[in-house]
Amino acid sequence: MPSAQVQRPNGSKAKPYIIGVVGGTNSGKSSVCKKIITELNNLGAMSIVAISQDSFYRDLEPEDLELAHKSEYNFDHPKSIDDSAIYELLIDLCEGRPGKIPIYDFKTHRSTGEFEPVQPAEVILLEGIMLFYYKKIREICDMKLYIDCDADTRLARRVRRDTAERGRTIDSIIKQYTSFVKPSYDEFCAPTKKYADVIVPRGVENEVAINLIICHIQDILKQSGEIFENGAQTVNGDSDQK
Ligand code: ADP
Ligand code: C5P
Ligand code: MG
Repeated sequence: MPSAQVQRPNGSKAKPYIIGVVGGTNSGKSSVCKKIITELNNLGAMSIVAISQDSFYRDLEPEDLELAHKSEYNFDHPKSIDDSAIYELLIDLCEGRPGKIPIYDFKTHRSTGEFEPVQPAEVILLEGIMLFYYKKIREICDMKLYIDCDADTRLARRVRRDTAERGRTIDSIIKQYTSFVKPSYDEFCAPTKKYADVIVPRGVENEVAINLIICHIQDILKQSGEIFENGAQTVNGDSDQK
């Protein structure tokens, strides 16, 4: 883990507290991140950034793009994500440099070419299905959460979300799910549950788990003298960077 430090608004220095949030598709990762951000903001001034693995899908060659439009491309394989770009962004933020997050379009399967700026912050929430698969990313996380949710609930949610928000048909969702999403979950996501510090069943509904997590973050930041000292801002309150 790097000993990188960030310059706080109050002039002190400390590495941001990085929370990795992993779980299968539609397990509730983004919802849990939003809840944590809301709760931390309610507790006092602190700067928080939310980063999603979903922003870092690699650009596809034309033949792979064609496959993607036929639901024949595996977006659930670790190679589909630019994990180095995620890691480098984390290092920049840890060292107090601003960064930028690409904006991805799920309807076209392409990055839009636009970016969202992101500033160094005290807490970084990082969410995505395969983040604990990548050793360097896993090891830079200070707290690792795994959102546990059964597969049929996740598929039902995915059908609703991907038809409403990602321009998909039910047939295409089922084809992609059975060909790639489920087998890749079993191979690349589920086995990383063993790296989690906390496994959260029922996602955002699990108030006890979320309260314990919030208390832990508070304790850690209080110990490092970084919390509730001076006013700070939430840099990016929306954890779902789609
Ligand atoms: P992920 O980021 O893991 O893909 P999201 O948090 O975006 O999952 O949730 C996926 C969908 O399921 C969203 O439409 C969200 O509103 C819904 N959802 C999440 N958690 C719950 C829950 N506990 N009960 C019902 N619906 C939920
Ligand atoms: O938000 P969620 O964790 O569900 O996002 C990850 C999912 O997005 C993956 O399961 C992957 O199949 C899907 N995806 C997609 N089309 C893309 C990129 C990712 O369906 N172009
Ligand atoms: Mg999400």
